[in-house]
Amino acid sequence: MAGKDDEYERKQSRDISRRRFLKGAGLTALSMANLSEAQAAKEASAAIRGPGATAVTLRVNNAVHNLQVEPCETLAETLRTQLGMTGTKVSCDRGTCSACTVWLDGATMCACMTLTVDVQDRAVTTIEGLAQDGKLHPVQEAFIEKDATMCGFCTPGMVMSCAALLARNSSPTLDDVREATCGNFCRCGTYPKVFAATLAAAGKGVK
Ligand code: FES
Ligand code: FES
Repeated sequence: MAGKDDEYERKQSRDISRRRFLKGAGLTALSMANLSEAQAAKEASAAIRGPGATAVTLRVNNAVHNLQVEPCETLAETLRTQLGMTGTKVSCDRGTCSACTVWLDGATMCACMTLTVDVQDRAVTTIEGLAQDGKLHPVQEAFIEKDATMCGFCTPGMVMSCAALLARNSSPTLDDVREATCGNFCRCGTYPKVFAATLAAAGKGVK
């Protein structure tokens, strides 16, 4: 019995540590890139939930999902395991490669560094939600035309970063594209074709 209790306490401690780590790391990245100070303060003061599973309502690609998630569950895990959206890739699982890039309210975010319980009412967009009315996003089309993928593991995250760039800057320079994808690691080295595809998509008048 004592062994079971010890194991439970070890798991709680591990989960809480992971939660604290993600919160701290996430806040650093988010506050630098995407969040206003007020939003960052809201994140910091969010009530701690758990330790058991808790109810959340997620808006993913304009669909509402009522789910039960562990407080330590990342958005990447929820998308992939609970919603079956495996287009969001997990490579490093620690915020260094951006393979897991999704949008939260239109801003790029690493889903492996975002706790699902912290998403709250923000709109989540994944690679599965980029195509509209059965038509691929121009960035997706351009990636195909320019052959901007090899193994494809980085590709969904790369596309999400490039599409986000074009949503805020419809006429980017090569340097803009480089900056927008500077966190996206491609072990196959497709960068030149990714840059060419994004500039080509911009030339199509991406909004
Ligand atoms: S899997 Fe999220 S940053 Fe690498
Ligand atoms: S295409 Fe293989 S990691 Fe980018």
